[in-house]
Amino acid sequence: VEQKATNITWHAGEFTHAERSALLGQKGLTIWLTGLSASGKSTIGVALEQTLLNNSVNAYRLDGDNIRFGLNKNLGFSDADRQENIRRVAEVAKLFADACTITIASFISPFKADRDAVRALHEAANLPFIEIYVDASLDTLKERDPKGLYKKALAGEIKDFTGISSPYEAPEKPELHLKTDASSVEECVQAILDYLREKDLLP
Ligand code: PPS
Repeated sequence: VEQKATNITWHAGEFTHAERSALLGQKGLTIWLTGLSASGKSTIGVALEQTLLNNSVNAYRLDGDNIRFGLNKNLGFSDADRQENIRRVAEVAKLFADACTITIASFISPFKADRDAVRALHEAANLPFIEIYVDASLDTLKERDPKGLYKKALAGEIKDFTGISSPYEAPEKPELHLKTDASSVEECVQAILDYLREKDLLP
């Protein structure tokens, strides 16, 4: 995206990220849940946030549907709008992670290039980025269909619906691959916690 403003200067604070992290006793990072609608991104995100908060770890969710009510209310589901959706959320997630929050972002984020850009943004700031593929078969998703969106999409009532009439590029090398056909929400959350623990990212 082109930089429009001129005459702007970066103003640093009094604390480096490492100092902030040491003071707060917590590392900041972004957990990025990607997958088709109804794959379980939000459900896993909510359960993970609950577990972390119950253990006094500051965690905060950024969720596709929710963000589209506010920050991104002017975006739809064209390829370009999805790209802009993810670009903005990437910047927000980076800020939360920089503030030493465990940021849990649940977005379909169907395009590999957009997810790679989120990763690059975090890596450039030295903030851990954990891409998690929340995977379930299309048959399962059509069966779950909690919001009736697959039914509508298959009937042609929603255009550009991911997995039906709009593409989803599955991650090739995610940090974690969760299969919600076979694993429970608790098992998925545990797998994420185990990963965070193994990488020494939890207090
Ligand atoms: S994206 O692709 O990352 O920009 O999408 P995201 O911001 O995660 O928003 C996905 C939620 O929007 C609802 N919805 C649609 N999804 C996909 N395609 C189309 N056309 C569409 N229209 C509405 C849907 O409720 C998605 O929520 P989840 O939680 O993924 O089911």
